Parts: sequence; C-alpha cells; structure tokens
Amino acid sequence: MVSIMNVVGARPQFIKVGPVSRALAEAGVAEILVHTGQHYDVLMSDAIMEDVGLRSPDLNLGVRSDSHATQTAQMLEGLENAILEFRPDAVLTYGDTNSTLAAALAASKLGVFTAHVEAGLRSFNRSMPEELNRVATDHLSDLLLAPTKTALAHLQREGLERRSALVGDVMVDALLSIDLDRVELPGWATTGPFYVATVHRPANTDDPSRLAAILEALGSLDKPVHLLAHPRLRDRLEAYRMVTKGSLQVHEPLPYAKMLAVMRVSHGLLTDSGGLQKEAFILGVPCTTLREETEWPETLEGGWNVLAGSRLETLPKLAGRTPDPMRSSPFGDGKAAARIVEEVLRRIP
Ligand code: UD1
Repeated sequence: MVSIMNVVGARPQFIKVGPVSRALAEAGVAEILVHTGQHYDVLMSDAIMEDVGLRSPDLNLGVRSDSHATQTAQMLEGLENAILEFRPDAVLTYGDTNSTLAAALAASKLGVFTAHVEAGLRSFNRSMPEELNRVATDHLSDLLLAPTKTALAHLQREGLERRSALVGDVMVDALLSIDLDRVELPGWATTGPFYVATVHRPANTDDPSRLAAILEALGSLDKPVHLLAHPRLRDRLEAYRMVTKGSLQVHEPLPYAKMLAVMRVSHGLLTDSGGLQKEAFILGVPCTTLREETEWPETLEGGWNVLAGSRLETLPKLAGRTPDPMRSSPFGDGKAAARIVEEVLRRIP
C-alpha cells in the first residue's frame, strides 16, 4: 500500500490538508499526519483541526516559536527522524511556512519524493520569510502543484515546468466543504454592519510606528472593525502598550468555519493574510490588503481586492468601495485535492 506523509504546522496548513487527507483516504492511500508544533495555541491549532475534520496527528514534533534558524533546524531534525521511521513513499508540504521548508529539505535530502501544494506563489518581496520559504521549497521539490495559472507561469519562468502541474486551489475545496448557513455567528457579528480585520505579518506587527498607523487607520472607519488578533499581534500590542481606539475592537482568533461565516456577512475585510484575501474573493466580500503586494493578483479583478499598504490614510474610502459585480473563478472548481492525489500517485517513481 502506498503511504504518504502530510507535514503541517501552522493554521492555514490545517485548512489546506483537510481535503487532501480525505482524497487520500478515498484513493486507498495510507496517510501519516505529522504536526511540527509551529502553532500550538488551542485557537491556532486544535480548534482549527477539529473544525476541518482532521484526525489527531500521528506525530507532533512539539517545536515551538524561536528564531527562524532555530525553529527550522529543530523541525528539520524531527522530520528527518520521522521520515526514517515511517518510510513514506512521498512527503507532501503545504504553503510557505518554516514547517513547509523544513519538510521539503528533510525529505528531498533523504531522496524521498517531495510534492509542494500551493507551489509557484510569488510576492517578489524577499524581505518576507514566506517568500524565501516558497522559492526554496519549489526548487527542492519533485512535484510542484500550482493552484493558479499565474503560479504555474512563475514556475515556468524559473525553469520548473517539467515538475509542475496545475491542479486548482485546495482552499476552494475546503471552503465548499463547509455549510456556512449552519454556522452560529458570534454575538458581535449580529448587531449591524461591521468590518472584520486581521494583522499578523512581521512587517506590520513588529515596527511600532507601522502598527500604530494601522490601528489608527482601522479605528477611523465608519463602522465597527472587529480585529481577530493572531498571537503575535496580541504580544506586540502588550509589549508596545498600545490601546485601540475609535471603531476598533480586538477579539481572539476565530475557528475556520466561523471566520468564513463572519466574513460572508461583513461589509468588508481588512487583512495582511494571503489566504483570507482569496476567501473574501470567493465569498464576494471586498478585501483591502494592508500590504504593498499580493501573491494572489487574481483577487484584484474588478476591485474585489485593493492593496493599501502605503495608503493607510485612504482606508475609509477604500474600505467603503463597491467592486464590479462580475468576477471569474480563477481558483478552480473545488476538486483540487483529488487532482493532487492523482498527480502524486502518477509521478511517484
Ligand atoms: C506563520 C507563517 C506564515 C503564515 C502564518 C499563519 C512562517 C515563517 N510564517 O507565521 O507564513 O501566514 O503562520 O498564521 O512560518 N504564537 C503563539 N501561539 C501559537 C503560534 C504562534 O503564541 O500557536 C506566537 C509566537 O510567540 C511567535 C508568533 O506567534 O512569536 C509567531 O509565530 P510564528 O511561528 O513565527 O509564525 P506566524 O507568524 O504565525
């Protein structure tokens, strides 16, 4: 029986692996699920895993937050041992985190077939740790599973065409598997129009003047802004002793299904997350991105997403805009997981 190791560690990876895990089971493939431990807070890890119907991992490496080198090195060591112990036929990695890079490096150096889900994304901003993780993972992997035509074009330009396949975006599979009408909204989402926001990128959280400018801009919007705080943001708010003002209210992160349900009824999303920009596009919610660039240029179509990184003073105007009602479906048909499994099984030597 073919066995495949799925390596995950951070919140968005628990979401992406769900549909692939189910598709592997349907294809009769044995799955070994490894959690590096990168995200460990209940709301960042267990609650999300439960929400997307993921079983308990076969192994949790328990690697916690540290410097990038230390965190990645500990994962690398743990993953090498895990691959030697379980001897999978292939290792699947997801997205752009330190867990992704560690898994690709450990597996490829052991000569184990390595596939990267969500390959080919580029922000072309090399000061982002995620960009370095993506580029390195793509070049290390044996199979590059691109979610969009744009991603595939990036891989072609880097000479990786023969190892690449366009499969669609597995986050569409994940989103479509949730019945949003059955999800109970938090109380604050039921009392009139509001915006929802998230901020977690180091470029936005770790520079006090940048973070203060973001909080001020969010606080100046004409409707309540509910900011769902990633642990890094909560930590920086405390460290810099920053208080939120105006329309801004801070909450704990939400589980996956609730996040989607809240976003769907919101007036708009303000975020620096990659995945949320895309989910907003799919749900038809205007997104304002608190960055200078996006890995998902398709979302800019018809004004559904705008990049407001250096234009924070125009946030009230941008957030209130009305996008063009027509939009295409560049992220695929929600059947990416089945194609991923098919491609992996076809290409394992
Ligand atoms: C990681 C990914 C990023 C992804 C994001 C999703 C890298 C380099 N970045 O960033 O691509 O978009 O996950 O959320 O891998 N912390 C906790 N509890 C947790 C997790 C983190 O308290 O469960 C705190 C830690 O103090 C840490 C900070 O949050 O300092 C950031 O954690 P880190 O592992 O650096 O990853 P993210 O910023 O979440």
